Amino acid sequence: MGLTLLLMLFCGSVVFGSWYDHVSGWWKKKQTYPKLHYMFYEDLSEDTGREIDKLCSFLGLSISPELKEKVLSGVQFDNMKKNQMANYSTLSVMDMKISPFMRKGKVGDWKNHFTVAQNEAFDEDYKEKMKDPTLHFRNEI
Ligand SMILES: *[C@@H]1O[C@H](CO)[C@@H](O)[C@H](O)[C@H]1NC(C)=O
Repeated sequence: MGLTLLLMLFCGSVVFGSWYDHVSGWWKKKQTYPKLHYMFYEDLSEDTGREIDKLCSFLGLSISPELKEKVLSGVQFDNMKKNQMANYSTLSVMDMKISPFMRKGKVGDWKNHFTVAQNEAFDEDYKEKMKDPTLHFRNEI
């Protein structure tokens, strides 16, 4: 369960529809349309440099070590949280008094907030709605 999943749990759906439909729809499209690159938050957290390299490779770009360092710093959770271009503070549909769009960015932090019953309910709902066995989210890194 990643950041996006937690966001979905608090909102029930994403602004433009169901999170499940959004994620599965693009995942399905990726199988037949090679010009889509899917990135997982957990992978980015685990090794941001590796994921930048994969993205550059996908885009057919090479990146200088200096630019890579700049990107690495810019996409760190705490830096993005402070960046109004990334933290949705300019988007009025997001009510930051209820919850900031960017919370902690810690993979697996849901374990500190969910009860066992809530986790079971989530897993059941997830299993029912996410039927594609090729789409795997990691719970931890
Ligand atoms: C979002 O970014 C703006 C601009 O840096 C900052 O003032 C605001 O506190 C940030 N919001 C959150 C929730 O961190």
